[in-house]
Amino acid sequence: MKIGLIKEIKNHEYRVGMTPDCVGAYVQNGHTVYVEKSAGLGTGFDDAAYEAQGGVIVADKTEIFNNSDMIVKVKEPLPQEYDYFKENQILYTYLHLAADKPQATALLEKKVKSVAYETITDNFGHLPCLTPMSQIAGRLAAQEGAKYLEKPFGGSGVLLGGVPGVKRGNVVIIGGGGVGMNACQMAVGLGANVTVLDINPNALAHFDQIFDSRVTTLYSNRTNLLAALKEADLVIGAVLIPGASTPKLVKKEDLKIMKKHSVMVDVAIDQGGCFETSHVTYHDDPTYMVDDIVHYCVGNMPGAVSLTSTLALTSNTLRHGLAIANKGLEQALKDDKNLMNGLNTYDGKCTNEAVAKSLGLDFCANPF
Ligand SMILES: NC(=O)c1ccc[n+]([C@@H]2O[C@H](COP(=O)([O-])OP(=O)(O)OC[C@H]3O[C@@H](n4cnc5c(N)ncnc54)[C@H](O)[C@@H]3O)[C@@H](O)[C@H]2O)c1
Repeated sequence: MKIGLIKEIKNHEYRVGMTPDCVGAYVQNGHTVYVEKSAGLGTGFDDAAYEAQGGVIVADKTEIFNNSDMIVKVKEPLPQEYDYFKENQILYTYLHLAADKPQATALLEKKVKSVAYETITDNFGHLPCLTPMSQIAGRLAAQEGAKYLEKPFGGSGVLLGGVPGVKRGNVVIIGGGGVGMNACQMAVGLGANVTVLDINPNALAHFDQIFDSRVTTLYSNRTNLLAALKEADLVIGAVLIPGASTPKLVKKEDLKIMKKHSVMVDVAIDQGGCFETSHVTYHDDPTYMVDDIVHYCVGNMPGAVSLTSTLALTSNTLRHGLAIANKGLEQALKDDKNLMNGLNTYDGKCTNEAVAKSLGLDFCANPF
């Protein structure tokens, strides 16, 4: 198969879809990998490192798209990239289509066969290609939240860990999955008081077992949420309903009961966000104020720690990418129901039920 590795163009996105080692693995399996010039520079991999593994460096993006059977990326294609795709081309990347109708329309119209990292499953029903980014985003959420609580960044001037004789800051985490757990680990490590809300009792029990009395767990309902918001210095939104847009759990009116200059980090913004006042931001201008509350809503948080992120991501995506290249997409999908769950569009049809529901599209279970 001919595979194209494209340089990311999203604002301050430094990750890359393949390390030089990944390129070497495809080449050893008999494939050709075209690497867009400078694609890995943001992560610290220069063109020579890719060439040493057998990659072919190409300066012209159009040439790569025209000659490749499969395009490998990290982030979803941006509108200025839609026209590069050709009919029946395989796209292997994060897509997050549920909150992005223009992109879904473009992929359907172009009949792109798109496999989304975030909906690939494993035998336990987990999302193995989303997990590493959730771990990173969760850890960063606590780190960034702590930073934006500092006065020069618009925060209230609270140090999450307090000091002897001065009380600790309160961190409220809504959603106790992968992001929530990692945010909690960091927040506890910083010395904060942490409260976790979830609707899944098993998730809450897991926190209880791991953190014992260091963390308060609460069933996520309106009463508990409002009580937690009132005391919060930092709120981390980490809710996910797989493939669907996120429920807006924190309403605009709720900001009035919160402490002035507290911080809200909406990690779930890539699925639409779980605060009513969230809108997507970028690493070069990550925060904005609403009613004296600092909002941080960067949709590609892991891009800020591109080396860690690229290494973690590609060690999970390589296996399926190789299966697609070695067997051909259709056979690889027939052989592996977990990979089939990653298929989002095929031959102009939407093949992911939750995405189809979110966007009001017809769902097609058997596209070939
Ligand atoms: N912004 C970024 O850079 C970035 C990076 C990685 C992940 N994310 C996003 O973070 C979000 C969370 O990801 P995850 O891997 O932790 O998902 P996850 O599935 O592991 O966890 C989500 C949790 O939300 C809980 N939940 C559902 N409805 C709830 C409700 N009403 N109240 C409280 N909890 C509720 C679920 O029970 C689950 O425990 C996703 O939207 C993901 O796409 C964003």
